[in-house]
Amino acid sequence: MLIAMDGPAASGKGTLAKMLAEHYGLAHLDTGSLYRAVARDVIVAGDSLDDENAAVHAAQALDTGTLNDPGLRTPEVGQAAAKVAKIGAVREALHRLQRAFASKPEGAIIEGRDIGTVVCPEADVKLFVEASTRVRAERRYKELLEAGHGISYDEIHAQIAARDEADRSRKISPLKPAQDALLLDTSDLGIEAAFEAAIKLIDTALLPR
Ligand code: C5P
Repeated sequence: MLIAMDGPAASGKGTLAKMLAEHYGLAHLDTGSLYRAVARDVIVAGDSLDDENAAVHAAQALDTGTLNDPGLRTPEVGQAAAKVAKIGAVREALHRLQRAFASKPEGAIIEGRDIGTVVCPEADVKLFVEASTRVRAERRYKELLEAGHGISYDEIHAQIAARDEADRSRKISPLKPAQDALLLDTSDLGIEAAFEAAIKLIDTALLPR
């Protein structure tokens, strides 16, 4: 079984994807970490994020063993990831890795922005996870506080709104639900309730017609 999950930053899709992977016994890929890792490698190499060749080189040379680096989770790397994600050749190189993951015989759950629309249009189930910008900013603010990052709520709200705008309005692979995606709004749901709702949507979609 192949599940595609898309949605904006801090919609809850990352946590949900991990829980669903465990529930259905599927391998899980967070594709945002690929774009974050490319951005990190450009920064570490001392190159400019506006240098397309440097970003493409970083994508082609990406070491997927480094995706659990906690340094990838900062708001700065998130903003930088949205910059390199606009470059077609960066997306192409990362799509190859994502397609290889999607073809695992045991199935997979892959989350990102363009999984249902571009990377895995053939997925058995496509979920699009939404939440209001206010709720998403509150969640991300709490997470960052707990991780010891000193940043204000207003700053986080502005960053999330700007990153969504960049992701939704870019020319290549913009963030949007696939036509046949199932929508899940987690604004008023705790993580357990969102998990139950996701399972219900997926199990119903998989029922034989
Ligand atoms: O999901 P996460 O916040 O880690 O993603 C970081 C950035 O990577 C996003 O804001 C987006 O610009 C980019 N991204 C993308 N396509 C994906 C996953 C992430 O463009 N499939």
